[in-house]
Amino acid sequence: MEFDSTVKDRKSVRDFDSTKKVSWKMVLDAIDAAIQGPFAGNNNYLRFLIIEDSKTIGDVAKLCEQTWVSEAPMLVLVCSDDTHLENLYGERGRVYSRQQAGAAIQTLLFKLTDLGLGSCWVGSYTDESLKKKLKIPQHIQIEAVVPVGYEKKMPGDKSPVKKSLENSLFWETWGQDRRPTLFEEEKEDYRPGKGDLVA
Ligand SMILES: Cc1cc2nc3c(=O)[nH]c(=O)nc-3n(C[C@H](O)[C@H](O)[C@H](O)COP(=O)(O)O)c2cc1C
Repeated sequence: MEFDSTVKDRKSVRDFDSTKKVSWKMVLDAIDAAIQGPFAGNNNYLRFLIIEDSKTIGDVAKLCEQTWVSEAPMLVLVCSDDTHLENLYGERGRVYSRQQAGAAIQTLLFKLTDLGLGSCWVGSYTDESLKKKLKIPQHIQIEAVVPVGYEKKMPGDKSPVKKSLENSLFWETWGQDRRPTLFEEEKEDYRPGKGDLVA
């Protein structure tokens, strides 16, 4: 699948086809894509916890207080160990840890989409109970729970409306939403979304 269509096709899937099993090998492919980086100083201390046991999936769903999670045939927990990045970069290391985990989660979701699998980034759960349930050490951060499965397509399903490119940009200084004419020979002002080239 082309990159652009993967980006467009990715969406949060919360309804899974219970008749279709997920190949753990495909999920490993997606995790392999996720760990291709980037990582601050190339320090990757991410760990992925894969859960296939339906009883455990049900328990995690309860701790997320999201019933639909229990319908997923597989969960991937993305976790970080901040220790090394903190030793290297101090407080900023914790920021790097969150950032690189987010980047990896995004790649994971893209690759799952590319493989034809549905998924969702779940960030709402009680850390302490989840750690206890899954024997995750205290110093490990749970970055996300990602339910994975084949989407059960519902008639009338709509993708969420996204912010326009035009409303996401500033040029040169904060608050300036039009591209200034910086060079004499380039008397153009590209307004994204409209596709206009204004002299
Ligand atoms: C940090 C983060 C936490 C999220 N937590 C949840 C969650 O707990 N439950 C859920 O159903 N969706 C969760 N989402 C998914 C968002 O609701 C979803 O991405 C958003 O509505 C846009 O929809 P889309 O992913 O289909 O484009 C989370 C997304 C992010 C980035």
